[in-house]
Amino acid sequence: MRVTINQIKEMKQKGEKITMLTAYDYSTAKIIDEVGIPLILVGDSLGMVVLGYESTIPVTMDEMLHHTKAVVRGTKQAMVIGDMPFMTYHICVGDALKNAARFIQEAGAQAVKLEGGVTVAETVSRIVDCGIPVMGHLGLTPQSIHQFGGFKVQGRTPETATKLLKDAQALEEAGAFAIVLETVPAPLATLITQKIGIPTIGIGAGVGCDGQVQVINDILGSFADFVPKHAKQYAKLVDIMSKAIAEYYEEVKAGTFPTDKQSFAMDESILAELTGCD
Ligand code: KIV
Repeated sequence: MRVTINQIKEMKQKGEKITMLTAYDYSTAKIIDEVGIPLILVGDSLGMVVLGYESTIPVTMDEMLHHTKAVVRGTKQAMVIGDMPFMTYHICVGDALKNAARFIQEAGAQAVKLEGGVTVAETVSRIVDCGIPVMGHLGLTPQSIHQFGGFKVQGRTPETATKLLKDAQALEEAGAFAIVLETVPAPLATLITQKIGIPTIGIGAGVGCDGQVQVINDILGSFADFVPKHAKQYAKLVDIMSKAIAEYYEEVKAGTFPTDKQSFAMDESILAELTGCD
């Protein structure tokens, strides 16, 4: 039985911290699931850390579904949340419903996430009415990067802080089961967490949130382009991988790989017969 939205909401009530990580492939999802992490987000960060785009904006539904299916196949207990790509829920509610349904029906996810507050509240409410759990996402929402003028902390002025609180309240009212708060001053994230009844999951939003989410490549140190301030590297996989790949390269060139251990033998008599043939 997979983690449910009720269990996630109960964790807030009990004061139990909620952990979420991104995953984009079968093998990684399997490790995260076996560790026992309850929420796995197939984030559109996929575009940057896996597909090499400059932002999340070019990511398509087909790319998201492809990777969400792999993550679902690798998991048994975690709730898998599919991230709705840029402009797949803005044009009309019909589009939003159709695309949210694809994550559940085609890819096997249990919930979807989308960015925005008051302006998407009606859409959230309609998706929830169809029986699809929705996670909100506020603060530095990467799909609006051009509107923000870069990756900047959000909610530092009285107006933007008030707007963030109103957005969070609108999402709760619309039926979202949790909200990601990204790159928001820690005291503001704490205040929002106290003022709403659904869990907040922070990323660069301080320890006062009900839970935390990180991009898996950031905590493993497997994405070399940049390390966000909010990320802690629990490993440096780039160094480990680079050393292993260089060693393989040297051994192939030197003819010391493969050895008998990685090779397959055959009956000598068959070989002798073949050698006799022309
Ligand atoms: O796409 C993503 O990985 C996300 C998280 C950073 C919350 O939206």
